[in-house]
Amino acid sequence: MSTARITLRTAESSEAKKLYALIQANLEEGHLLPRTLGELTVRANRFVVAVRARKIVGCAELAPLSPHVAEVRSLAVDASARGGHVGVAIVDELRRRARRESFEKLCAFTHVPGYFTHMGFSIVPHTWLPEKIFTDCVKCDLFKRCGQYAMVVPLDSAFDAVHGYGVPAVAALSA
Ligand SMILES: CC(C)(COP(=O)(O)OP(=O)(O)OC[C@H]1O[C@@H](n2cnc3c(N)ncnc32)[C@H](O)[C@@H]1OP(=O)(O)O)[C@@H](O)C(=O)NCCC(=O)NCCS
Repeated sequence: MSTARITLRTAESSEAKKLYALIQANLEEGHLLPRTLGELTVRANRFVVAVRARKIVGCAELAPLSPHVAEVRSLAVDASARGGHVGVAIVDELRRRARRESFEKLCAFTHVPGYFTHMGFSIVPHTWLPEKIFTDCVKCDLFKRCGQYAMVVPLDSAFDAVHGYGVPAVAALSA
């Protein structure tokens, strides 16, 4: 991986095409939910992007499912930037933003549960997240047979302190 510094910031709607390209490139590998350019233009301000040498090398959206639950959606790190904790830093930043916005839980739906358990998420029955089922799952061709794990972490400062989460995200990245 390049040693250039990586910074995290909110995406801009003018960057929707770049978000689209990054998500498309990882759609199959990550079993990501397909996104449209229009949707990404409107929702860009809910995305955190990791930028290295002015290139977006990672992204994820903090997607509200209800007033209580937000979801990590469209998490993708460019192959050139993997293995340097960019993904962890993005999720950590989403966690801090979700807490600031007073969500109680952060969830993710994934085929790689090990990645999220690493960050304090636990596997739960899908039925514990009815917000997701009624927002997305019922519309999906793979409803009840998707093979994704539902994962949740509480947004609780005591939990974070015990587990050592919530450090400023940029500090977790290699310089
Ligand atoms: C999954 C993904 C986001 C990881 O990004 P990354 O920046 O390379 O990951 P990190 O460097 O933050 O990894 C942090 C830790 O998780 C581990 N890890 C990485 N990918 C993992 C996986 N698929 N399963 C389990 N652990 C994994 C790393 O080894 C690392 O361990 P360490 O802390 O002991 O060194 C990236 O591989 C990707 O974009 N994949 C394609 C899309 C995808 O799968 N998205 C997630 C769908 S919800």
